[in-house]
Amino acid sequence: MLEIERLEAGYGDVAVLHGIDLTVEAGAVTALLGSNGAGKTTLMSTLAGLIAPSAGRLRFAGQPIERLPASRRVEMGLVLVPEGRMLFPDSSVEENLLLGAYTHAARPMARARLSEIYALFPRLAERRRQRAGSLSGGEQQMAALGRGLMAGPKILLLDEPSLGLAPKMAQLVFETIAAIRAQGIGILLAEQDAHAALKLADSALVLENGRPVLAGPAAQLRANTQVRESYLGL
Ligand SMILES: Nc1ncnc2c1ncn2[C@@H]1O[C@H](COP(=O)(O)OP(=O)(O)O)[C@@H](O)[C@H]1O
Ligand SMILES: [Mg+2]
Repeated sequence: MLEIERLEAGYGDVAVLHGIDLTVEAGAVTALLGSNGAGKTTLMSTLAGLIAPSAGRLRFAGQPIERLPASRRVEMGLVLVPEGRMLFPDSSVEENLLLGAYTHAARPMARARLSEIYALFPRLAERRRQRAGSLSGGEQQMAALGRGLMAGPKILLLDEPSLGLAPKMAQLVFETIAAIRAQGIGILLAEQDAHAALKLADSALVLENGRPVLAGPAAQLRANTQVRESYLGL
């Protein structure tokens, strides 16, 4: 569904990503692992169209997308849930969710999707009229996921959804990601928690200093000595 080939990107003259190759399939979770500063967010931003790649190819559903603006990618079904959630704290939960359905394609579906999201996240339904800023961290992450789902994604780019959450809430987020995958949506999951990510994921890519160092089926990476020592602390 999403194909990344020899991708290079960075900020101005600062090159960050070097030669990234990766595919994200529909109905599968691909984990993007790496310590702080490895380049996970830079890759997510490049895929979403917020950063222009300096080299390489990006294809979505068979079409080249390198030159498409971010809004067009969302319309096609490539949707980013950014690091730090980025909700509007003074708007209600429901207003934040509805913002996810801003594209031409998503707008007519908004009410039906809202019901689906409230079924998936009953806590958001209870808090629909509350300010988003008054929610707990875990609830805010649910709202950010819900906003992403409102766009009708084929692929969701999730940038550190468990960051800063209590273990129980993080667990709930991972269970939700599994439920989203079961709907046939493909997920690229950037995570510092390699344990949790490799348990859930079908495949994974490990980045170090913007370079791919390991890639393969999640089970294979879980058994890899280098991964066990550097990322799983075993
Ligand atoms: N806006 C920016 N301008 C310049 N350099 C940046 C910017 N954002 C991130 N970087 C640098 O890019 C590298 C990768 O960062 P990032 O993609 O945020 O990593 P991660 O998400 O894996 O923690 C780091 O060296 C970071 O300092
Ligand atoms: Mg990051």
